[in-house]
Amino acid sequence: MSATVHVRAPGALYNVEIGPGALDEIGPMIRDLTPAESVALVTDETVASLFGMKVDTALAREGFRVLSLTVPAGEQSKSWAVAGDLCETLAAGGVSRTDAVVALGGGVVGDLAGFAAAVYLRGIDFIQVPTTLLAMVDSSVGGKTGVDLRAGKNLAGAFKQPLGVIADTAALATLPEDEWLSGLAEVAKTAVLDGEEFMSWLEARAEQVAARDEAVVTELVERCVRFKADVVARDEKEEGPRECLNYGHTLGHAIEKVLGYGAVTHGQAVAEGMRFASRVSVQVGAASTEFVRRQDRLLDVLGLTSIEERVEPSAVLEAMHVDKKSRSGVVRMVLVDSPSSWHCVPVQDVTISAHLDAWASTKGGE
Ligand SMILES: NC(=O)c1ccc[n+]([C@@H]2O[C@H](COP(=O)([O-])OP(=O)(O)OC[C@H]3O[C@@H](n4cnc5c(N)ncnc54)[C@H](O)[C@@H]3O)[C@@H](O)[C@H]2O)c1
Repeated sequence: MSATVHVRAPGALYNVEIGPGALDEIGPMIRDLTPAESVALVTDETVASLFGMKVDTALAREGFRVLSLTVPAGEQSKSWAVAGDLCETLAAGGVSRTDAVVALGGGVVGDLAGFAAAVYLRGIDFIQVPTTLLAMVDSSVGGKTGVDLRAGKNLAGAFKQPLGVIADTAALATLPEDEWLSGLAEVAKTAVLDGEEFMSWLEARAEQVAARDEAVVTELVERCVRFKADVVARDEKEEGPRECLNYGHTLGHAIEKVLGYGAVTHGQAVAEGMRFASRVSVQVGAASTEFVRRQDRLLDVLGLTSIEERVEPSAVLEAMHVDKKSRSGVVRMVLVDSPSSWHCVPVQDVTISAHLDAWASTKGGE
């Protein structure tokens, strides 16, 4: 019930090890990846209380000098200031060019620690140990690292591929429901982008997935990582195929921004974005209404129900315009016509507005 996925990116080749219980083997697994004398174990307070001691002890047992660096849990730690503090602590702790950073946690810790590893001494090795579903299926693979700026999320960063990724699917047992759903939205996105086989597989197992069946979740993570690895191999820097990963995110990010981060879960926002994009695709692409219904059903059974809040269409459109992917003042959206058939296209404001008005009319009061 464990799997290894190989990731090939320009100048990097590494493995993603997936399986329940991987944390029990973490010491030898990390020793196999690096001859480092010291490792900086970066985590957040919540993850530290769950797995920090176990990983710290396992690393020490392998002879590593362990420098434990714990940041507060949550997106606010993904900042320039915290990354700077981490680099200062690495320097004060005598971490050298041949040492390594281990990121133990969700996407926040992975992005932050990876960024610190990318810039400290102009780059030292790092290893991802994702503990959220989102980090296992998405953020730990592909080498994007970074921090948020006041002007927006992920506006400063670096491409830095890890030496390896170790995903213990048993660690997901303690994940709160909202965080689980955030990961599931990326899973649903991946299944739709990957194609008919994965989408049907997920439809057939949606209830087991929702119940976090360990074997099913392990296979699910493996399927998502294989898909992401394939996309990254073809396009590390998001100039082509990697754009598909933005499916559901143009509207999703706009909803989060307008309602205020945390008002709806990230997963719900992305799922709402997928629902919206499929409807736009019926008009300007080639999606059938059957595909729209099918995707709606899948999101519903996974627990990614529609949001009830009414969001002002003009504010949403404005937020869609500041999306990093918009070009020359025109919003670009990833549209899916049928499983695996996607395209990233400019969509005119008049089309988006009409859909936003129709969408907002189905929602409750503000
Ligand atoms: N680099 C990429 O390619 C990429 C892709 C997608 C998202 N991201 C980034 O990922 C971040 C979101 O990641 P996330 O959703 O993992 O959030 P997160 O890292 O904030 O983790 C969510 C919460 O779950 C807690 N947690 C982690 N593991 C746990 C466990 N096993 N049990 C109980 N609680 C646990 C954390 O302490 C935190 O409070 C965002 O900053 C986003 O920009 C990056």
